[in-house]
Amino acid sequence: MLTLGIESSCDDTAAAVLYDDSRLLANVVSSQNEIHSRFGGVVPELASRTHLETIEPIVNEALFRAGKNLNDIDLIAVTQGPGLIGSLLVGFCYAKSISYVTGIPYIGVDHMLGHLLSIFLEKKKPSFPYIALIVSGGTSSIFLCESVTRCKLLGRTRDDAAGEAFDKVAKLLKLGYPGGPIVSKRATHGNSAAFNFPRAWLHKDSFDFSFSGLKTAVLHQYTKVKDNSTIPIDDICASFQHAVIEVLVAKTVKAALQLGVNNVVLGGGVSANDHLRKTMKEVCQEHALELYLPQPQYCTDNAAMIAMAGYLCHNEQEYTVDYTADVFSRSLLG
Ligand code: KG4
Repeated sequence: MLTLGIESSCDDTAAAVLYDDSRLLANVVSSQNEIHSRFGGVVPELASRTHLETIEPIVNEALFRAGKNLNDIDLIAVTQGPGLIGSLLVGFCYAKSISYVTGIPYIGVDHMLGHLLSIFLEKKKPSFPYIALIVSGGTSSIFLCESVTRCKLLGRTRDDAAGEAFDKVAKLLKLGYPGGPIVSKRATHGNSAAFNFPRAWLHKDSFDFSFSGLKTAVLHQYTKVKDNSTIPIDDICASFQHAVIEVLVAKTVKAALQLGVNNVVLGGGVSANDHLRKTMKEVCQEHALELYLPQPQYCTDNAAMIAMAGYLCHNEQEYTVDYTADVFSRSLLG
């Protein structure tokens, strides 16, 4: 079975072609970073206009790279939400239109489920149940996944998402956008013990996160040193990154141990972070937990994970195509 995946929830236009759940034939992502970087963040109106221009060429490019055409496609999987409404509408309406005209069924996919199942794009696949940490620009959440369609939210951020905190700190330090990759690069040259930034553990049994206090602490530190002849940007980045990652790793591992779940999965753009991957690996090893890491290209927004989630959901449950369905801005999971 061939699934065409389409993703346009934020600022990446993406399309992919997946054969069953076993072979990714094409995975194309068109990034809008250059357009948004001068604003220090995504400008929704520009994002949706750019999706409009790129959606068709990107879908055609994915089909071309896969050596297929629309007649070969059995299922269209498209991101239905959460995300920016204007951006989502471009991909969703495009997918529904193709489906309506060609008769190929389409399935709307929760973007979060895409991240939760992106690990199935890898050769080494986890068995259920697993604990998943999903960290991106829009979310920082811990889930218990018991099956493809049963993923229970255990905790989520109460304010900024981890990726959002990286982006805001980068903007504050005038480093550029998106902040995660830049901050993590600068952090490799810095001392993570230089500043003792706060960790918000919240209630001891809570799997929720909070990163807004940490971001404010970085702002205060920066204000104190910004008139110095040399600003210790690398040290600030390293100390900030260390504080975020310590909390992410501790809460994820605690969830696995407390619920007696042996498998841990990462997903979302921030899980491309080397320091997070390394720390999570070390701590999981200490506790004899099995860690499953998607390759970085499947961590950030992509349509391969949407194709995979659509295919797996379609296989698991009865599905009726609904052309009246609409996009949604908040995840339906939990
Ligand atoms: O999953 P994603 O591509 O889009 C969303 O759904 O949000 O994640 C993008 C987020 C951005 O906030 C970006 O700064 C962050 O992921 N990110 C990283 C890294 N690469 C991307 N954060 C920390 N370290 C990285 N290496």
